[in-house]
Formats: sequence, C-alpha cells, structure tokens
Amino acid sequence: MFFKKKAEKMELDMERIPRHIGVIMDGNGRWASRRGLPRSAGHKRGADILENICDYCNSIGVKALTVYAFSTENWARPQGEIDALMELLYHYLQMVEEKFKGRNMRLKISGDISPLSEKIQAAIHHAEEVTASGCGMVLNIALNYGGRDEIVRAARKLCADVGSNPEKIAQIDEKLFTSYLDMADLPEVDLIIRPSGEKRLSNFMLWQAAYAEFWYSDICWPDFKEEDMQQAIYDYQNRDRRFGGVK
Ligand code: IPE
Ligand code: IPE
Ligand code: MG
Repeated sequence: MFFKKKAEKMELDMERIPRHIGVIMDGNGRWASRRGLPRSAGHKRGADILENICDYCNSIGVKALTVYAFSTENWARPQGEIDALMELLYHYLQMVEEKFKGRNMRLKISGDISPLSEKIQAAIHHAEEVTASGCGMVLNIALNYGGRDEIVRAARKLCADVGSNPEKIAQIDEKLFTSYLDMADLPEVDLIIRPSGEKRLSNFMLWQAAYAEFWYSDICWPDFKEEDMQQAIYDYQNRDRRFGGVK
C-alpha cells in the first residue's frame, strides 16, 4: 500500500522490523538557511515531519522510536534559538494528548529535564501521564539528553543503592547497570539513523549503540520522508549482524 512504486524494489521483511530505532534529527538549520529562512523555520518543519515518520514506524510495528531533539551540548547555541526550540517543544507537548489518542502511542522523555522551565516540566509529566496506557509504539524524545550524562546519572543512582556493600558491588553487571539508564524500559536499539551528512554520534545513545546498525544520509531532517525510513530499514535488513560471533 505505502509507496507502491518503490516498495516493489524494497519490500520489507515484516518479521524483521527493527524493534527500536534511534534518529538524530539533524540538519534543520542548514535546511532553513539554504532557503533563506531563519533556523527556527527548520526546527518547525522538523517537528512537523516527525508526525509522518512516527505514523509510518508505528504502522509497520516498530516498538520504540527515539528521537534526539536537544542535546546536553545544545545549550551552547544562541539564547534565541534555544527559546524557539523550547517553545516548539511546549507546543508539541500540548498536542500530544490529541495526536496520540487513537494511535495507541506512548510518549516518553529521556534526559535530565530538571534544568527546563517548570511550565515545560509540567507539560512533560502531563503528556507522559495521559499517554501512559498506549501499548503501540513508544515515541521517546531525547531532551537535554547526552549519552555521557545518562551514564553518569545512572552511576549516581546505582551508587546510592549499593553504597559500600561489597556483596552488592560484586553483583553489578551490564544488565543491572542498564536498568538504571533513562531508556531501561525500551528494547535494545537496532538501528541509528543520522540525516544531514554528519557521521558522528554527537553523544547520542552511547551505551545503547554498542551493536546498533548505523545509517547515514545527506538528506536534511526536514526533508526526511517515509520512503527514507523505509530505505533505512531495508538496508538494515540486508546487514549481517554478527554480534562478535561468526556465521
Ligand atoms: C538539529 O538541527 C536540531 C537540533 C540540534 C536541535 P540543527 O539545528 O543542528 O541543524 P544544522 O545541523 O545546524 O543544520
Ligand atoms: C545533535 O546534533 C543533536 C540533535 C540533533 C538534537 P548537533 O547539530 O547538535 O550535533 P553536532 O554539533 O553537529 O555534532
Ligand atoms: Mg546540527
């Protein structure tokens, strides 16, 4: 049904849809500048197209879609751009209840939200609460998120729990550590996508990325279409994942 012409060429194996996809939504600023528009116009368009990508992923059975919306390093941007991003986020959160209704989706925020305004924090809690029963796809927005910060915060919580008890310290393993991370309740990430031509993680899902497949594209995020997601998943399905073993 979707994209009939291309689908003939790249039919997806519905039994092997990635369970968790991470997307570094990059290139908004360049997309806007190339059109003589303010960078905020790129962010606006980037937020708008997320809806189509979510619907597509949800329709093919992806369990979790993590999107990188604001990194712990993005505070280095001009205040005007930060304000515009926060305003956009606030409006998005306001629409979540209505948009997620009927789509059976759940919203989750990963990252340290404590430096955000009280207004935004309240909107986050509300949006998470009203979508909590959604058992379709989880849209996980990485917000004031950094992979290193996530690991440090997890280590702090873990230390508080184990204290100096040698038995508890000896029980620390990867599984236990993972349970302290923001994304502990989500499946292992299978595929990480970065549009806009950059080929780096920029502090995204550092722990989780251990065996994820990477997919890059020169398309800027505001131009990213369902067909691009389909192509990324198609390519993912043609990779040979060995996890260190041999076949
Ligand atoms: C990604 O687009 C969005 C955020 C980081 C918030 P950019 O704003 O980084 O766009 P470019 O990379 O400058 O084009
Ligand atoms: C990564 O993009 C962060 C988000 C997409 C939210 P950046 O544009 O901030 O990353 P760098 O600076 O190019 O590495
Ligand atoms: Mg960028």
